[in-house]
This record gives sequence, structure tokens and C-alpha cells, in this order.
Amino acid sequence: MGGEASDGGNVLRTQILFACLVGVKCAVLTTGARAMAEVPEVRDLHSAAHPERARVRRVELDLTVSFDREELAGSATLFVERTEREKGAPLVLDTRGLVIEGVEGGGAGGFHKVPHTLGSSDPILGAPLTVDLPEGDDRVRVRYRTGPGAKALQWVGPSRTAGGKHPFVFTQSQAIQARSWLPIQDSPGVRLTFGATIRVPDGLRAVMGAEAKGHAEAIGGLTAFAFEMPEPIPAYLIALAVGDLQFRELGPRTGVYAEPPVIAKAAHEFADAEKMVEVAARRYGPYRWGRYDILVLPPSFPFGGMENPRLTFATPTILAGDRSLVSLIAHELAHSWSGNLVTNASWRDFWLNEGFTTYIERRIVEDLFGAEQAEMEAVLGLRKLLEDFAKLPASDHILHIDLAGRDPDDGMTHVPYEKGALFLATLEHAVGRERFDAFVKGYFDHFAFRGITTADFETYLAEHLAASQFQDPVDVRAWLHDPGLPNGYPRPVSARFSAVDDQARHWLDRKVAATELKTAGWSTLEWLRFLQAMPVDLPAARLAELDAAFGLTALENAEIAQEWLLMAIRAGYEPADARLDAFLTSVGRRKYLMPLYGEMAKTDAGLARARAIFSRAKASYHPIAAESVERLLSKPAEEPKP
Ligand code: BES
Ligand code: ZN
Repeated sequence: MGGEASDGGNVLRTQILFACLVGVKCAVLTTGARAMAEVPEVRDLHSAAHPERARVRRVELDLTVSFDREELAGSATLFVERTEREKGAPLVLDTRGLVIEGVEGGGAGGFHKVPHTLGSSDPILGAPLTVDLPEGDDRVRVRYRTGPGAKALQWVGPSRTAGGKHPFVFTQSQAIQARSWLPIQDSPGVRLTFGATIRVPDGLRAVMGAEAKGHAEAIGGLTAFAFEMPEPIPAYLIALAVGDLQFRELGPRTGVYAEPPVIAKAAHEFADAEKMVEVAARRYGPYRWGRYDILVLPPSFPFGGMENPRLTFATPTILAGDRSLVSLIAHELAHSWSGNLVTNASWRDFWLNEGFTTYIERRIVEDLFGAEQAEMEAVLGLRKLLEDFAKLPASDHILHIDLAGRDPDDGMTHVPYEKGALFLATLEHAVGRERFDAFVKGYFDHFAFRGITTADFETYLAEHLAASQFQDPVDVRAWLHDPGLPNGYPRPVSARFSAVDDQARHWLDRKVAATELKTAGWSTLEWLRFLQAMPVDLPAARLAELDAAFGLTALENAEIAQEWLLMAIRAGYEPADARLDAFLTSVGRRKYLMPLYGEMAKTDAGLARARAIFSRAKASYHPIAAESVERLLSKPAEEPKP
């Protein structure tokens, strides 16, 4: 952190006071001598901004959502802070594909045109917008519209929604897509508050990861929804969705938004949300965001979940009917501490977000559903990690990953999640649960509402978990900066999985028929384990036996379907062809798409088929997912067969 920010925890928090009425301009007053103290020392390679010179403290959006033009248009008013020494510094914002229609500077007395330049566009980073802001001005108003194919936005036609009648649009700002829907300092080390007025066609509802301030009467066919986010957050957490949405309460501070045909199922699936918040807050300190709601998106949502503050965005593929996939909600909720409260300062430090979150997710699961459940998840996670180790270059096995010149999405592997969680489990094991829990809670309090680097974490760890407290030594440096897994980590084991493995072996050894397997009471995770226990060269005839016994091709559960379809591709099991086609053209979750297309792309015939399916499915994918698949399929087949 910048020198002043790490003075033993006694940082004078900058206070930002708002006199703010919805729809009325806000007066921003900053007090405190250390207003600039939160600027990270290390430059974020994925942002053109220079927050150490001029920093955005707040943005107010006034946007109209046009489904016809597939664009957001309006203005962003940015409240800027500059130190005495930098009072003439230009403001540099990140943009990507935005059409800038006008830039004004201003202060309390109103706005006036100011010079600005839009730099050349980098394929990964977009184009910097530099505003020459006169010394006396402290705000900038940018009038703009989003460009075609804005990477954060997915426009979903009515036919691809659950209800089939209304369109839907949603944003996905992480990692560096916020800049494609608003001009902003798009760096996780820069935090800001925001207010928003969102105008949408009558009959639709806008939701944001923010406090809803109600909506105004419709004027000219548009209804205006107002929002306020009083806590300072990084730009990657700014989120918006618009659709035909209903709300159902789950608990005093929890609820779910979904399209009408999905709302009952969603409310049933997420019934434990309130308990999850309680359990997490008891262990890690107060939940600081007011409400915790969940929004169910159309199946084209490119991720499983996204931890937008106050409003987790979730894929409908976790609506398994039996609550077997709700650990994803525990995960997104955990980000309310690890990520949203204490944030990675740059995408190199992504493991601080995801490793901590994966670790906490399993602690929540253990508290609510028992140790066996948490153990199974840890075992599955370790397997994914080892698979990634086998695929990725050694430099990408490192938690403090080097992302210079790369898209931060490249760092989104199981390494930050699972190696990060294993590192924290190792620390917990070494000092004991009680001490480690106190450490983590203290860590969240200490760094609350700040972006921190891996080095900040190391310093804090050294100061607060003294080496003398370790029953077993932990090579912290190796965990963070070397590839692979240091020796001596507590290897996750699961007795329930051992029983599954026994069943799998019996069947593989032809000691029992598929119909005789003892699968009663198996949960989603046990079925996943069973399928993963199958050898990669299991022939189609054997798949047919399993299919006949368990109806795997027809299963709705997306997690099991993906695993099964992978096996089907490998074996050339034709009865699953139609299901594979249907799956790939209806689900846009990247975690499923990439392995399936990747498996197909291993043969020439498979690659041709993959390309054919992709050409039909592409329009239904989020730009983020479409780009990933496109890149994957543009390579020649990995192991061309004659
Ligand atoms: N924050 C991530 C999603 C993300 C990461 C989006 C990086 C864009 C860039 C979210 O919390 C997450 O990890 N989602 C997972 C689910 C989780 C249970 C592992 C996902 O989407 O699969
Ligand atoms: Zn996460």
C-alpha cells in the first residue's frame, strides 16, 4: 500500500459525506488529511488511470436502456479528487468501445466544455479518455452511448428468456469490462460510491448491486429506477440488469429476483440464504452491505455467479431442485468479505479474492451442511486444480501470477481458487482453527474497504500470525511465488467419495452390473465423483450401460450433464449427440462451454462439429463467453487423427 495507508491500522478513514436526493445532483465533500492514502503503490497494468494524480470518488449515472438499439445512452458524472500538488492533473478514464458525445468539466457552479482526447484502442485494455480538467473543477460529465458488442453487456432476446415475452439485459463488469459500459477508472484498487437513474421500457424492472431508491412514474414509455451505493466499491462490482423480474423474500435481509416462471423454484433452492449470511457474519464480522439478494439470470449468463454487492448474479444452472449446488451462493456471499470488503489491488492479486472466498465458502458449507459436504467439495476442487496444473505452463501455477500484457481473464483458472484455498487451509491447520478464524476476522477489519496487494497480505500475515504460533512450518513464500504445491498441505479426503470409488471400481471390474450399483442417496457431488472415476477411454458400449441404468443423457442437472457429455464426446457416444447440441445452444456458462468445446476440438471431425454448433449458438452467448470459445476453436485440432 502507499506508505500512509499501512501505518499499523490506524489509518484515518476518509469520510465522504453526501447530501444526496434521488435524481438530484449530490454534493460530495471529502474530509480528512489522508484522502489520497488509499492509492496502491503498485501500478495496475490493466488500467490507464492515474489515481495517484486524479481519482474518481463517485459516479452518478443517468442511462436509458434501449433494447431496439441494444445500447445504453446517457451520462456519467464523475466526482474527482486531486491533491494540492496535483490540482491541475488531467483525469484519465478507461473506456472500451464507448461513443463519447461530449465531455464537460464543472464545479458547484455548473458545467462547461473541456478539452479531452480519446487515445488509441488497445485490444485488451480499450482506449484511455484523458480530460483536461481546469484546476477549480472537481467534476466531469461525460455524455456517451455504449458501442456495438460492448463486452460487459448481454442483450437477451425474449425467446432466450424463461418467460419468452420480454427482453433481458445484464452487465458483467469483472474483470475489466466495466469500461465498456461506463467511462471509469477501471482498476480494483480504486473505490467509488455511485448513484444511478436507469430508464427502462415500461413493464420491465431494473435492478442494480445497490440500494433501490424506488422508481418514478412512466414518462414517454420509460420508467426510471433510482439506486444508491453508499459504500465505496471498485468499478468491477458495478452491475445492472433489466428484465421481467419478480421479487420473493427469503428472510429479513435476503430475497431473490427472477423471471416469473423461475421465481418459485429459485426461492425454494435458495431457502438457506439468510442462514448463510448469519453463519458467515458470526465468524467473519458484520455483513456490511445491508441486504443480500440473489438475481437469477437467463442461462446465457457466462459465469456461475458474480458477487455484485447486495445482489449476487447467479446462473439458473444451479437450480437443481434439491439445493445440491447452493455452495455457489455460499461462495458469492463469502465475497462480501473477501473481495468486496477487502479487494485485490490488481488482477495479479486475484487469489486474494478467490482463494479466500473458496476457503470461506467451504467453512460456510461445513457450518450449514456438515463437514462431509465441505470435504467432498474440497476433494473435487483439488482434482480440478491438478487438472489445471497438467494443462497450464508452470508460470501460471503461481498464486501471485504475472499478467503483464495479458487479459486478466487468463488468470481465471482453478489456481487462484483452489491453490489459494489450500494455502489458507494449510495455515489454518498449522495454527489451529480458533487462532486462524480470529486472524481472518482481524484481516477483514484491518483492510476493510481497501484494495490490497499480495505483499500487503504477506506483511500482515507476518505481523499477526507470528511464526512461533505455527505448529508446523508453512513456506509462505513458496505458496505465493512458486509453481506447484509445497509439501505437507492437509490433503482433503472424503469418506463418502471412497464409497463412491468402491462402487466405480466394482463396476469397472465387471463385478456388478450398473443396475446393481449402490447409488441410493447419492447427491450431485457423488455422481460427479462417480463419473470422474471413469477412465478417459471408457468405450461407448459401457456408457450405454450407465445410461440405461441411470438415464444420464436425460438428466437436467447441468453439473452432471457437463461431466457426462465430456465422457460422451470422448467415447463418440452418439445417443448423447442431441443432448450435447441442446446443452451448448441453451447454456452459456463458460465453465461448461470451454471443456466441452475443448474436448470436441481434439479431433478434426470433432472440431468441425464444434465449429458448426458454435456458429448456431454464438449469438446466444455473452460476448465474454463467445470470445473465449472463438479463440479456442480458431486453433487447429490439438491431436489431429488421420
Ligand atoms: N468473481 C467470480 C466470477 C469472475 C471472476 C468473473 C473473474 C469474471 C472474472 C465469481 O465469484 C466466481 O468465482 N464464480 C464461479 C463460481 C464459484 C462457485 C467458483 C463461477 O462463475 O463458476
Ligand atoms: Zn469468486
